[in-house]
Amino acid sequence: MNAPAAAVDLDLDTGAMPWLGYGLGLRPEHYQDILDADPEVDWFEILSENYMVQGGKPLHYLERFSERYPLVMHGVSLSVGGTDPLDLAYLKDLKALADRVQPAWISDHLCWTGQAGRNLHDLMPLPHTSEAVKHVAERVRRVQDYLGRRILLENVSSYVSYRGSEMSEWEFLGAVAQEADCLILLDINNIYVSAVNHGFSPQEYVYGLPAERVQQFHLAGHTDYGDFIIDTHDHPVVAPVWELYAKALAHFGPVSTLIERDDRLPPLTELVSEVEQARRIGFRVLENRRCRV
Ligand SMILES: [Fe+2]
Repeated sequence: MNAPAAAVDLDLDTGAMPWLGYGLGLRPEHYQDILDADPEVDWFEILSENYMVQGGKPLHYLERFSERYPLVMHGVSLSVGGTDPLDLAYLKDLKALADRVQPAWISDHLCWTGQAGRNLHDLMPLPHTSEAVKHVAERVRRVQDYLGRRILLENVSSYVSYRGSEMSEWEFLGAVAQEADCLILLDINNIYVSAVNHGFSPQEYVYGLPAERVQQFHLAGHTDYGDFIIDTHDHPVVAPVWELYAKALAHFGPVSTLIERDDRLPPLTELVSEVEQARRIGFRVLENRRCRV
């Protein structure tokens, strides 16, 4: 049975926001299967933009899911690293959706998605500079003031780097989170993808973050092209990402974990078994960690 956030063991509370357990990205293809099967999934993450509408099927289902499960909102359009003015119409719709859903939290990405009104429909990395830290943090603070809550920023996967970068990606992510007083959604697969593509240590990334700000993990699959990896979200989570996940849990302690799949969606049962795998790893690692403390 699915445990609502309020019923979860308080020993596992991460402090700033509730510990939700092990969740799954909600996709329309699985709506009815979830309602019929009531799977062993503790919570769901919705894609905010899919529900920023006036009515119809998405909102009908959303209401039914919000009665059964804790929900969090995950967006792709904030472009908090961009230089265009913040999109106030988007923020208004996001806030209205949050009022409707009452999510445990709201997240988006540490990236930019367009320029001069043109949308690239991709999550572009930022240069890791002090100037960019200041720029992004100021925008995050304005978003948080408007929404009346702290948000989570997710690390994106990347395939290019900037000559002008002055610090590592993890130092940049940590500096933005500290300066903006926001939280971190750590995508373990994105760390692995970028580590392979850029040749850094994924463990160093994990250990280099401000632990108290890490609120959620994403786990996803990718496509391996041999000498580089693309973050396609169309495969199961691979062994090295599970291993990195175990190390991250051992380091940070309990962090709400989500399986993310966007393409080549398998039957719901396959994704639920990945949620179960995360739960098994979490149980083992957190038990060992508790014994060591
Ligand atoms: Fe992600």
